[in-house]
Amino acid sequence: MKAVKVTIILVAAALLLFGLSGISFAFHSGGVAECMGCHNIHDAKSTSALLVGTDISSTCLSCHNSTAPGSYHISTDASVMPAGTPPVNMTPGGDFAWLKKTYTYSPRTGTTVTEPGDEHGHNIVAIDFGYAADGINTTAPGGTMDATQLACNSCHDNHGKLRRLSDGTFNTTGAPIIASGSYKNSPLPAAGQAVGAYRLLRGTGSSAGSGGTVFNSIFNAVVPSTYNRTEATTATRVAYGAGISDWCGTCHPDMHSGTSSKMTHPVNEQLGTDVTNNYNAYKGSGNMTGTAATAYDSIVPFQTDNTTDFATLAALAVNDGTVTTGPATSDRVMCLSCHRAHATGFAHMTRWNNEGEFIAADGVWPGTDSPSSIASAAKYAMGRTVAEMTRAYNDKPETNYATYQRSLCNKCHAKD
Ligand code: HEC
Ligand code: HEC
Ligand code: HEC
Ligand code: HEC
Ligand code: HEC
Ligand code: HEC
Repeated sequence: MKAVKVTIILVAAALLLFGLSGISFAFHSGGVAECMGCHNIHDAKSTSALLVGTDISSTCLSCHNSTAPGSYHISTDASVMPAGTPPVNMTPGGDFAWLKKTYTYSPRTGTTVTEPGDEHGHNIVAIDFGYAADGINTTAPGGTMDATQLACNSCHDNHGKLRRLSDGTFNTTGAPIIASGSYKNSPLPAAGQAVGAYRLLRGTGSSAGSGGTVFNSIFNAVVPSTYNRTEATTATRVAYGAGISDWCGTCHPDMHSGTSSKMTHPVNEQLGTDVTNNYNAYKGSGNMTGTAATAYDSIVPFQTDNTTDFATLAALAVNDGTVTTGPATSDRVMCLSCHRAHATGFAHMTRWNNEGEFIAADGVWPGTDSPSSIASAAKYAMGRTVAEMTRAYNDKPETNYATYQRSLCNKCHAKD
């Protein structure tokens, strides 16, 4: 058992050193990983399933939490995150450590606002790493799932059984998984082979655990092989395909259905001519001079119609700025147009700030320590430092937008 642990540590160290995609030095390789990476047969911390951590999510975070950024790290250790310092990872799903960032500020004299960290994302319960159940939402809003049961494996299959077969269909068996299927450079499975489902995510027929909710769709997407990176110069473009909003709707059934009484912004609806034209022309508040060829913004992504075709999605999944095209009218708005999957720097896990009239002022991202007396005003800084506000946009420069920039709902609606 000792030898196994040493190998895993070496693999993790190699990944850290080279910052690789996880394809050459893999652990899950798109399916069930080495059993002893998560289980400990004679000396387990959690006896319920003989896990290496006190609970399920702590088991995952024993590798996925770290002090420095690295491809598969999705949680920054609290030890390197004092007040004013942001989480370090910039993955598409977002860093769970935003849940540990509570902001208190006074937008007006005599008023104090507190934005609890719990509102920044999905509160997975991971005792060994200081993550507790959400203090506000006792169930999934718009659904019934008990928030105390939320774990990494509510969404990801710890045993990664779902696979994409050579004919493009998905099944939990039928051919061996040869590698991850998440990446632009993932292999195309030949007959008799399969690759893992995107990000080991659960799919149709798989249960999200307590609450008994069963997924009703496959999450089709492709990501560039280097995805935990600054977006200061080029965007990390995840190509999203069919199934995303229904997938989220598994636990939030009343957040998007046509008959829902709550929050009925359309999802999985085609953008149509007007919204597409807005997206492609929009560069910032008061600036509609953009063109379709360079319109893509990873802060406001869209779904490539309802495609399930890996090759179509792989062609769009780049991080080197070579594919910057905006949407076609058949492309769609989805939950991840406005939210991330894990956590973000903003309330209700939105991808950009949805509070207040300006998200940026005086040509910079606001912050309490901004040299601009306008951008350091409490109502714009909202208790954050410039570093925190900037990181919440994956370090994307404010100069990509207008000097006085309003909500990015305008990328699609151009009401500013
Ligand atoms: C990435 C982590 C991880 C790896 C790798 C892993 N497991 Fe598990 N396993 C878990 C977790 C987490 C649970 C508890 C699931 C729950 O209670 O919902 C579990 C539960 C189990 C269970 C009991 C419940 C069930 O699903 O039947 C068995 C048996 C099991 N694992 C066997 C294995 C075997 C065999 C391997 C290697 C081929 C393996 N596991 C690899 C994380 C893992
Ligand atoms: C022993 C260390 C280790 C443990 C424990 C671990 N992981 Fe991983 N995980 C990795 C490494 C290394 C990678 C990147 C290489 C790979 O994908 O195989 C990775 C990648 C992933 C990916 C991306 C895979 C892809 O194909 O896109 C997901 C999702 C993931 N892990 C989820 C989990 C979950 C959920 C658990 C707990 C049930 C878990 N991991 C436990 C080390 C670990
Ligand atoms: C509410 C569902 C949900 C939960 C809970 C969840 N994930 Fe994820 N995770 C996703 C989705 C969806 C993606 C794909 C995000 C994308 O590409 O936009 C993802 C992506 C990832 C990735 C790839 C890097 C990234 O951020 O894009 C890793 C690694 C990962 N998850 C690990 C974990 C671990 C470890 C946990 C528990 C600490 C966890 N996830 C909890 C839904 C979830
Ligand atoms: C396995 C069930 C499950 C899935 C799948 C799921 N969620 Fe959740 N979600 C929950 C639970 C439980 C809560 C309440 C606990 C919390 O807020 O942390 C929640 C809370 C939220 C919140 C409120 C966060 C806050 O604190 O204000 C948002 C926003 C959200 N989910 C969006 C999504 C999106 C977008 C997806 C798809 C990527 C998704 N959810 C998929 C279970 C799920
Ligand atoms: C057009 C942007 C947009 C889309 C699309 C969208 N949301 Fe939201 N969502 C928001 C905003 C903004 C809020 C915060 C609302 C507020 O503060 O009142 C929010 C709040 C939430 C909440 C928290 C509600 C609460 O009571 O705390 C959940 C859960 C949620 N969204 C889930 C989803 C899911 C699931 C989908 C897809 C089926 C989705 N959202 C699609 C923008 C969006
Ligand atoms: C990715 C593009 C996109 C983003 C981002 C987006 N929307 Fe929308 N929105 C749409 C589409 C598509 C429709 C439906 C077509 C239409 O009404 O033009 C729509 C419709 C609406 C409607 C009319 C709903 C109805 O039932 O008539 C409102 C109001 C709205 N959006 C508000 C918002 C707000 C507020 C935000 C930011 C939190 C936002 N949207 C972000 C694409 C988007």
